[in-house]
Amino acid sequence: MIAGRAVAVRRPEQIEARHARSLLGMSVSPAPGPASGVVTLHPPMTQSATTASSLAVRCRQPVEADLERILHLLDRAFGGWPGTSGLRAAPIDHLRWKMNSHGLAKEAHLVAEVDTRLAAVAVRIVRPAWIRGTLRLVRDSVDHAVDPTLQGHGVFSRLREHPTPDADRRFAMAFGPVTHPSVRHVLARTGHHQLGNGVQVLYKPLQVRRALSNVWRENSHPLRRLLASAWIPVAYLAWRVPGVRPRVSHLPLATVDRFDGRFDTFAPTASRPFDFVVARSRAYLNWRYADTRGGRFRIRVASAGDAIQGYAVTARTGDRGVIADLLTLPGRLDVAHALVDDALDSLAETGAVSVMTWLPTRHPYTGVLRRWGFTSARRRVDYRYQPLSTSASELQFLRDRDARLHVMPGDSDYV
Ligand SMILES: CC(C)(COP(=O)(O)OP(=O)(O)OC[C@H]1O[C@@H](n2cnc3c(N)ncnc32)[C@H](O)[C@@H]1OP(=O)(O)O)[C@@H](O)C(=O)NCCC(=O)NCCS
Repeated sequence: MIAGRAVAVRRPEQIEARHARSLLGMSVSPAPGPASGVVTLHPPMTQSATTASSLAVRCRQPVEADLERILHLLDRAFGGWPGTSGLRAAPIDHLRWKMNSHGLAKEAHLVAEVDTRLAAVAVRIVRPAWIRGTLRLVRDSVDHAVDPTLQGHGVFSRLREHPTPDADRRFAMAFGPVTHPSVRHVLARTGHHQLGNGVQVLYKPLQVRRALSNVWRENSHPLRRLLASAWIPVAYLAWRVPGVRPRVSHLPLATVDRFDGRFDTFAPTASRPFDFVVARSRAYLNWRYADTRGGRFRIRVASAGDAIQGYAVTARTGDRGVIADLLTLPGRLDVAHALVDDALDSLAETGAVSVMTWLPTRHPYTGVLRRWGFTSARRRVDYRYQPLSTSASELQFLRDRDARLHVMPGDSDYV
């Protein structure tokens, strides 16, 4: 789970403080062979009676009977899970949805047990992706959690470093955003790399007064407050003043509940300009945006006759609107303009104070969003990747600052 997802997400300083409290300074014995998956943690002699006994951590794939315990663990570790505002589904249904992103997803999750107790979980979303024109599977670790009473004992490190060669063969790479400092620390030493074309957060105010007060509340630095305060009215006007409005296509836009067969033709063509893009197959899109267990989304489709020209997906998290997804046929920036215009109108109607989205820094839609008054927030989304069945050299292009990537909030569990 990554920062921003309504209540479940913590600000970095909360995470740091919480984690600092949990660090008990236990030392870890070398990992045994992959067959047993059991590791013994030896706490220092100074630990209390409860922590002084050695912990035997056993890692395995979860089964259906673990679901309730996983939910309980997530709830305790995140202080409420899933914590998504507006989610109508029961948490257990949301968990089932999340753990079933793909037929092979069940091979990607991991749990760790200490004795008979569920100590940790790594929930993974599996997505199809076009990687340099080849369709592959990538996995994204979205919910890492360790039982609060066991945090700081190295349980998470053991879970992450538990070898899963059979499952890894199925996935080209691990790919996803990272927000927690401990997670970043462990990933850095297990061969995860940053993207060269880093993902930037783009932000646009919709209600000047409330957006200003949010900026003042969220930033204590006087210069940052001043810059944001100057920018907000400008960004707001860019959308309102008729002469400043960008030119948009006049294709009809329709709201749909599900992605139909026309997307089978549209998505591969629209994905062609990118060397990495989650493959928007019909099955994937319907799992992601059309299943109410996953959240509530507004799907808008631009078409010419029967042919889809582009689509956008929006959502709300708290008082903020999100453009979760935007994709058009190659070169149809006029369609992107129309979909962004429409997204801003509809989010404003719902009373959203601001709109957020993210994209790689160098991306054809960045200019479109800027024309509508979006500006880069100082925050970046720290995407990391780790080659699994694909060689490091094949994925080297991801470290290129000009890599042609398409990465948006809907490609994570932020919304
Ligand atoms: C994040 C979480 C899974 C980590 O689990 P954990 O068992 O406490 O982690 P570990 O004890 O294995 O420590 C992991 C490493 O991070 C390091 N670490 C701890 N705090 C750190 C910090 N602030 N910055 C960098 N590294 C840090 C530890 O020293 C340890 O490094 P080591 O293996 O080299 O000794 C756990 O804190 C948790 O469940 N948090 C709540 C849910 C959450 O926010 N999940 C993350 C987002 S999905």
